[in-house]
Amino acid sequence: MTHETARPPAEEGAVRLYGEEFDQRSKDFFERMRREHGPVVPVLLEGDIPAWYVIGYREVNHVTGNPALFARDTRRWNAWDLVPENWSLLPFVGWNPSVLLAEGEEHQRRSAAISDALDAVDRTELGDSCERTADALIDEFAGDGEADLISRFADRLPPLVMARLFGVPDAEVPDMIRDIQYVAGSDENAVPAHQRLQEMMRALAASRRARPGPDVTSRLLEHSAYDATDDLVNDLLIMLSAGHLPTGHWIGNTLRLMLVDERFAVTLQGGRGSVAQALNQVLWEDTPSQNNIGRFAVHACELAGRRIRPGDMLILGWAAANADPQVQPPAHGVGVGNRAHLSFGHGDHGCPFPAPELAEVIARTAVEVLLDRLPDMELAVEADELLWLPSFWVRRLASLPVRFSPAAAPGR
Ligand code: HEM
Repeated sequence: MTHETARPPAEEGAVRLYGEEFDQRSKDFFERMRREHGPVVPVLLEGDIPAWYVIGYREVNHVTGNPALFARDTRRWNAWDLVPENWSLLPFVGWNPSVLLAEGEEHQRRSAAISDALDAVDRTELGDSCERTADALIDEFAGDGEADLISRFADRLPPLVMARLFGVPDAEVPDMIRDIQYVAGSDENAVPAHQRLQEMMRALAASRRARPGPDVTSRLLEHSAYDATDDLVNDLLIMLSAGHLPTGHWIGNTLRLMLVDERFAVTLQGGRGSVAQALNQVLWEDTPSQNNIGRFAVHACELAGRRIRPGDMLILGWAAANADPQVQPPAHGVGVGNRAHLSFGHGDHGCPFPAPELAEVIARTAVEVLLDRLPDMELAVEADELLWLPSFWVRRLASLPVRFSPAAAPGR
């Protein structure tokens, strides 16, 4: 699919989303952007490549809810001629034959197969598997009296649990985690890592075809949606990486909130009621997937008074939409009990049913087991020393050092 469209020059006053000035932006950068530009902002990506940044709650809903106007296939983009070979955002925009970028009937078919295969997961068994995995990870550091909860726990639990759901042998999980992290890091390791992951998924599909089991991969193989092994391989990879990375960041960001915010301190002393509230609060305030490329305009249209041209790229600002003053009064607190955030996306390409529910079982169980095992856990640094990784796309901590009494962790 190629689209010959006259691409006009970048909009005047477009905001650079890269470079020194952006890296050193002040805290109110995004608020100012909203005040000065409104809900749809003309922006420049690395290399001054133009795009639209959609930050209004209503506008993100509109774009994601109208696939006939704003479609997913990145080959529709009208600025491919500006993209250098080594562009750092290529991993987010390069086309691949996965469910993420499929459209229309093909997307519906694959998305329905994914939902069916995930829906067959027994939620109680999933919770039990998370408990066992959390216990085993905690056993490794419980006697030390200190640990970095990101590298020792939050980053490791979801891939271990999900690998089992998909039938990936335990012995292959460390390589899988390393390679998924390389791909997400989009540096020179990304391409070979992606190739190794594809081979791993191909081998997984072959072994499940020979010996089907009670796992998501076997169920997808049985589904008539997949005639081509390549399609299945790509979708397995999307499910495993789109699944485990944000779930791990969700766990880490929730543990941080519970350790730094006194509204949740009671939970650390044994109550459990607010784990679900903390998880929900994080989806409003510090959602793991902050921004996403995106959608591509199918026709010329207007969006919040902006003239959008065929093939224009729209970046979806999930976090910015959640922070839209139109839905969130500045006093905060709206998140507790209110699940209308856009952190799982929206519309046909939103996080497919029942993935958000499964992710929540994993994240909630992980946090609960940790609080149970290390009830006197506290931050080992000042709250304002905790560092967020400087990424526009994801919200995750570099580390979350805690200390606790080793005696409080007898192992179970
Ligand atoms: C069990 C864990 C998960 C699985 C298996 C999973 C799987 C997927 C898949 C397959 C898609 C692509 C849907 C499509 O294009 O048709 C997707 C989309 C998405 N997921 Fe998830 N996911 C999981 C957890 C999460 C978590 C924890 C978050 C963030 C809190 C998240 C946020 C999103 C978002 C924002 C999209 C939409 C992207 C877009 O609209 O372009 N997911 N997920």
